[in-house]
Amino acid sequence: MTPHFSRNIPHSSLNELPDTPFYYYDTHLLQRTLENIKSCIAQHDDYVVHYAIKANTTPTVLSAISSKGFGADCVSGGEIKVAINAGFDPGKIVFAGVGKTDKEIAYALEVGIFCFNVESLPEIDAINEIAVRKNLKARLAIRVNPNVDAHSHPKITTGLNENKFGIDIPHLLPAIRRIQSLEGVELIGLHFHIGSQITDLRVFETLCERINELQTELELHNVHLQHVNVGGGLGINYKEPHLEKIAPFCEYFEVFGKKLFLRPGQTLHFELGRSVVAQCGTLLSRVVYVKQGSHRKFVILDAGFSDLARVAMYGAYHYIENLGSSDMSARPLEYCDIVGPICESSDVFAQGRLVNQCRRGDVVAIRSAGAYGITMASTYNCRPLPASFSDLDFTFDGGKLR
Ligand code: LLP
Repeated sequence: MTPHFSRNIPHSSLNELPDTPFYYYDTHLLQRTLENIKSCIAQHDDYVVHYAIKANTTPTVLSAISSKGFGADCVSGGEIKVAINAGFDPGKIVFAGVGKTDKEIAYALEVGIFCFNVESLPEIDAINEIAVRKNLKARLAIRVNPNVDAHSHPKITTGLNENKFGIDIPHLLPAIRRIQSLEGVELIGLHFHIGSQITDLRVFETLCERINELQTELELHNVHLQHVNVGGGLGINYKEPHLEKIAPFCEYFEVFGKKLFLRPGQTLHFELGRSVVAQCGTLLSRVVYVKQGSHRKFVILDAGFSDLARVAMYGAYHYIENLGSSDMSARPLEYCDIVGPICESSDVFAQGRLVNQCRRGDVVAIRSAGAYGITMASTYNCRPLPASFSDLDFTFDGGKLR
C-alpha cells in the first residue's frame, strides 16, 4: 500500500514506507523545541532569536519556525528568498557571509532586511554604494572576530584570528569610522559567531567577557550600539539523542543573561540553527546488502554521503538504529561498519558500531540528522536528492526518537 501523504495522516508500517533514503521530521518534537526556546526567553523582551536557515530549509520545518515569530539568519540571497517565502518577516532577517554579491545586497535592501552582518571594508563600501544608488540607508553590524576558541571541530570553529570570517579587533575602530563617514550605511550593532556544536557553555561565558570589554572600550571612543548579536553555535547530544531531545536552551540563554552586560535599550540577537532542528530529523535508509569481509561485517545502506555529508566531511558521530523490518524477531547485537553505496572510501557512517543485527531490507535510522543534513545533500554519483516527509504526511513507529 502506498501511504496517502498530507491527507488523513495514515500510519505506515516499515514495509509500507516510501522509497528510501528519505528524511523524516518529527514536527511534535520541533514544536516542543520551539516552545522551550520561547519560554526560556519569555522574561527577556530584549532577546531576538533568528533561526539559521542554512541548517534546514524543508518547507514544513521553516513554516513551523516562522509561524512562531522567530527571525531568520541568512547567508545568501537564495536563503533570504526562501525565508520570506516561508513567512519570515524581512524586518527580522539578518544577512551574513564574507562574499555577498552586488545582486544579493541589492535584493536584501529591496526587501528591507533588518541588518547586514558585514565582514570587510570592501563589503562596507559595496553596500554603501548600492544603498546610495537606491536612496536607502543600510543597517550594518560588524562581525568581530573575538578570538575565542570554541573547542569544537576545526572545520566548524570560526572565532579564532586566522579565520576568513569577521574583522579582527585591531581593525574594528577603523571599520567603524569608515561606516560613520559614509552616507548609505549606518552602524547598529556588533556581530559574533565563534563556531558550531559548542557543548561547553563556558565558551559562551568567555565570549560574553570579550564583548563586555569591547563595549566598554568602544564607549570610550563614543561608539554606542543598538544591538549585540552573539551568533549561533549551541551544540546538541549526538551520542545519545533520545536522552536529550531538546538542547539546554534555558542554561544557554542564562549564560548571556548573567554574563553579558547589555546597555539600556540594547537588544541581544541569537542565530541558532543546529540546536533548533537537529533532533527532530532522521535519515531513513534501507540495508541493501550485508557483506562479510575478512575481518569486519559491512552493512551497506542505500543512503550515502550525498544524502548526509556530516560524517564523511567532519568525522561527525550520528546515533544509528536498526529499526528492522516487519519481523524484528530477536536480533543479537553485532559490531559492524555501516557504509553507503558511493564510490569513495570515505562513504562510511560508522565503524565498529554495535547495532541490532542487520539484514537485507531492514530500515536503518540515522538520528539527529535534522540540521545540515538535507541542506548539504548533493547529487554526486547522479544520485537523486533524498525526499523529505514528516509526521504530517504519515506516521510510523520508528520515526520518533525513543
Ligand atoms: N550564524 C553564523 C554566522 C553561522 O556561520 C552559523 C553556522 C550559524 C549562525 C548557525 O550555527 P549553529 O547554531 O547551527 O551552530 N555544516 C556544519 C555546521 C556549519 C555551521 C556553519 N555556520 C555541520 O554539519 O556541523
